[in-house]
Amino acid sequence: MKANKYLENIAIYKPGKDKIDQKKAIKLSANENTLGCSLKVKEGYSNHFNDLSIYYDPACEALREKIASYNNINSDQILCSAGSDEAIAMLIQSFCKEDDEILYSEHGFLMYAISAAKVGAKSIKINEVNFKTDIDDMVKKITNKTKIIFLANPNNPTGSYLNVKEINKIISIIPKNILIVFDHAYHEYCTNQDYPKDILNIAKKNDNIVVTRTFSKIYGLASLRVGWCYASKYVVDILNKVRGPFNVSGPAQIGALVALEDQEFINKSIEHNNKWLKIYKEEFENNNKLKIYDSVANFILIDFYSKEKCDKHYQELLNNAIIVRKLEAYNLNSCLRVTIGKEEHNIKVINILKGSKNV
Ligand SMILES: Cc1ncc(COP(=O)(O)O)c(C=O)c1O
Repeated sequence: MKANKYLENIAIYKPGKDKIDQKKAIKLSANENTLGCSLKVKEGYSNHFNDLSIYYDPACEALREKIASYNNINSDQILCSAGSDEAIAMLIQSFCKEDDEILYSEHGFLMYAISAAKVGAKSIKINEVNFKTDIDDMVKKITNKTKIIFLANPNNPTGSYLNVKEINKIISIIPKNILIVFDHAYHEYCTNQDYPKDILNIAKKNDNIVVTRTFSKIYGLASLRVGWCYASKYVVDILNKVRGPFNVSGPAQIGALVALEDQEFINKSIEHNNKWLKIYKEEFENNNKLKIYDSVANFILIDFYSKEKCDKHYQELLNNAIIVRKLEAYNLNSCLRVTIGKEEHNIKVINILKGSKNV
């Protein structure tokens, strides 16, 4: 027995720590919606309990129709997936083979490189300037083996984003035979004026653009595993050949359908997030021991300027039953990523980082 040779060396994706011995640990390590999910999802979900014994809609027709009508796009250009991770993996499986190349940003989401390694493709990093993809370097790194460019917008774990002008520049200079995947996992949280909120409209005009979205973040359905992507009909038809026949479970489809309807919950989550992003920045504005980078997502990147200090703070948070994300795998050894939590959790984190005994 021998597996494909490139599979043996893959570093398995390590999610943030999710369990510690202490009861009631506060998990701020995976950018979930710490407010939970819409209560309507729980209701809708339990109504279908008796349907668990049947295979559910293999084409996710109702969910695609609803996503299409909410976003003013064609439902036959949508593919639903088991989390957006699955869409990313399917895109690579469909468009890359051994020795092909994908490009992604220096501190970009790790699943792009892991999925590329699974088909023997190489992942090449694009330099960043102030945590933003360097567009000139992106162009320099393109070869005749480049098949896909992945850009998380906003990016995880930096929280930075590419604005409309930068996105348009990228689209205009990248050759049309290369797919550009805009990973918008945190799309709903972003309220900055120049954030490319209408990326789907831009994608409509460019067949080489794919946009991935998820129900794992603001919708609070990470455990259900449901996401989707919008692409040209050609790309979606290919992905439909590659996906498993029942890749999105019935409960996931039902949960996502109901979650889409509860705009009130989404607005509440956006408001809570913006409030705490601002408070974090203000609380540490003149602090010379750490820096909080600007973020438009539901997490912040904190730089402690040295790995030693970073490890110390990580441990201190852990001692207080707060789990955050270390970022060695992203080559950010002096930084921690902290998900915006509930009010009482954020206050606790702020107090600990300020060295208050009163936590
Ligand atoms: C940028 C980005 N893309 C994609 C994902 C994958 O999310 P999911 O597979 O749950 O949709 C994540 C998860 O953290 C992420 O941060």
